[in-house]
Amino acid sequence: MEIGYFNGKFISLEDAVIPIDERGHQFGDGVYEVIRVYNGKPFMMDEHLQRLIKSAEAIKLPLTDGIEELRSLINEGITKAGLADCSVYLQVTRGIAARLHLFPDVPVSISMTIRPAKALPIEMREKGANAIILEDERWSNCYIKSLNLLPNILAKQIASEADCFEAILVRDGVVTEGTSSNVFYVKDQNIYTAPLTRHILPGITRIVVKEISKALYIPFNEEHFAPGKLTQADEVFITSTTSEVLPIVKIDGQAIGTGEPGEITTRIYEQFQAKLIE
Ligand code: PDD
Repeated sequence: MEIGYFNGKFISLEDAVIPIDERGHQFGDGVYEVIRVYNGKPFMMDEHLQRLIKSAEAIKLPLTDGIEELRSLINEGITKAGLADCSVYLQVTRGIAARLHLFPDVPVSISMTIRPAKALPIEMREKGANAIILEDERWSNCYIKSLNLLPNILAKQIASEADCFEAILVRDGVVTEGTSSNVFYVKDQNIYTAPLTRHILPGITRIVVKEISKALYIPFNEEHFAPGKLTQADEVFITSTTSEVLPIVKIDGQAIGTGEPGEITTRIYEQFQAKLIE
């Protein structure tokens, strides 16, 4: 069953628990993680929790819980939910205090939801997805997994209305990432992706793909590239905790490579699936 958690209590997702002065609600003043659980085991949990702690530090949020505490909270939640394949959403905010911009001296709020994992439509997985290119209108610190997702959701909505699954974002003429994914292309048996700067989220799935590329002896190049490289690529794919490794077969209406999921993308996806049952 799906369940929620707020500041020390497991709750039903229908329960009204967030006070109006919660700073996540008032200001989006917090950070979050999404962790996928496969067969009862949270995948790359420590990496996600390390990133959460880094995000919290970057916004000076005094998260006193360490990896150990967060890990046991998540495991307790998964056991309570009794879900083998689920997604954990964990959010930490600067707490509950009368609305004032300055940091309050109150405990942080921790909330969590655990829901059954939603698989992408099989057709999209097998045939690949479409994307559009949009200007990256986000702030300068996208390496922080902050709650402020307004530019991301606006871009994702534009993509959806154009019958696309993802919007690929461009800042100063170079591709950064998707609204909720990292972006890769394959050219002449090489993989390319944007380098880790403050303009992109250091994806956990990206780490896994980098490891897989190494194991398969496929050169993995982290360099800035213009959006034109994508439309001229042999293959394009995106990665995220929820979409895993997903081929992109059309961008701005233009077919990529053969217009079907490419060989390298498929190999990476297969290796990714193999890691989930290790
Ligand atoms: N999004 N870039 C952005 C902007 C993201 O929001 C995400 C993940 C990624 C991929 O990161 P990872 O591989 O660690 O999931 C890249 C999550 C899934 C979300 O907000 O739902």
